[in-house]
Amino acid sequence: MTTQSTRAIKPNILYYGTPVILLTTLNADHTVNISPLSSSWGLGQYIILGMSMKGKAVENLQQHPECVINIPEHSLWKNVEKLAAYTAKNPVPKEKEIMGFSYCKNKYDISGLTPEYSTNVKPNRIKECPIQIETEVRHIRIPDYSSLFAIVETEMKQFHAHESIIKGDHHIDPGKWHPLIYNFRHYYSADKELGKTFRAET
Ligand SMILES: Cc1cc2nc3c(=O)[nH]c(=O)nc-3n(C[C@H](O)[C@H](O)[C@H](O)COP(=O)(O)O)c2cc1C
Repeated sequence: MTTQSTRAIKPNILYYGTPVILLTTLNADHTVNISPLSSSWGLGQYIILGMSMKGKAVENLQQHPECVINIPEHSLWKNVEKLAAYTAKNPVPKEKEIMGFSYCKNKYDISGLTPEYSTNVKPNRIKECPIQIETEVRHIRIPDYSSLFAIVETEMKQFHAHESIIKGDHHIDPGKWHPLIYNFRHYYSADKELGKTFRAET
């Protein structure tokens, strides 16, 4: 590897490449909202989410603390993008309106995705997503250094996966699972294996 020189720059965003998730949450009238997010990571049986206080998802979680983390594979990027310019907030907050967001209540219709009942929580799952994780919200933290975002801590209650990506009884086959990566606001696939860590079980 050649030595690279660096330059200090000021990017507006820090989305350096994390999987897209489609979060399903319960609206007050018991319909379901779908919110595309890319800020998430797993810690044991917990998944931490980062979300804007201006969106409908966090409002829904404050009222009903359950959600499903549906993880689309790369081929679903166009369905994800169909959701991108919409919020279920009505009226649309000024800040989102300026960014080009419009109101949409039925995100299933607009995205061409299909609802499927959950087994442990009220918000439903998205059938097309190969991984669907039903969770309960443990804590919603609004950092004292910024009131723009919420850090939402969830606990896994039930993990579902498409048969086609399961290996053995309880493993996901990484060769068959191709998450959709959000890379500085562009969609990428991550499907080339480079190697594995010493703790890999498959
Ligand atoms: C691929 C993608 C990733 C996104 N990641 C996040 C994120 O991590 N956190 C967040 O608050 N918004 C994120 N957004 C923006 C939300 O999807 C947007 O605010 C949307 O209005 C949420 O819908 P809702 O207001 O109905 O909840 C992302 C959008 C896209 C398309």
